[in-house]
Amino acid sequence: MFSAKFLLAALSFAAVPSSLTLGGELASSSIIACTGTINPPDGCATISVVSASCINLTGDLSSLNNAVSWVQVPDGLVCTFFQDRDCRNGGVNADDVIVLEGGTWDMSDVQGIGGPQNFSGQTSSISCSPR
Ligand SMILES: *[C@@H]1O[C@H](CO)[C@@H](O)[C@H](O)[C@H]1NC(C)=O
Ligand SMILES: *[C@@H]1O[C@H](CO)[C@@H](O)[C@H](O)[C@H]1NC(C)=O
Repeated sequence: MFSAKFLLAALSFAAVPSSLTLGGELASSSIIACTGTINPPDGCATISVVSASCINLTGDLSSLNNAVSWVQVPDGLVCTFFQDRDCRNGGVNADDVIVLEGGTWDMSDVQGIGGPQNFSGQTSSISCSPR
């Protein structure tokens, strides 16, 4: 009796915060990407992100394609920046992706899978998820 009640309480306690995080936090999440500097803002755009969906830098965002030099990622998100469209990458040792957590980043000096990289002007698609 006691353990069944405890289990139910534990389950509902665990379920509520995680669904709030997924629905609430990400629904309104966005990143900033700039073709010039971020401070002062030069060629910056705000990009709305939906968890794990791929954003091509086409259409309204085409001015950013192969031109992103600074980005700002909000805390709680982790974003992957891809050289290729459609969030494709070449494999675990590829230098064609950069993964960035919350912060303001100069793309000309970011940590890639194999070491520091100049990823300025390289981004063609982006995918973000909760961290
Ligand atoms: C992104 O672009 C690629 C190549 O043009 C296309 O095949 C794909 O459907 C696009 N994906 C999205 C999410 O728009
Ligand atoms: C990084 O690459 C961009 C685009 O190719 C280039 O314009 C820039 O000078 C490079 N920056 C550094 C620090 O090497």
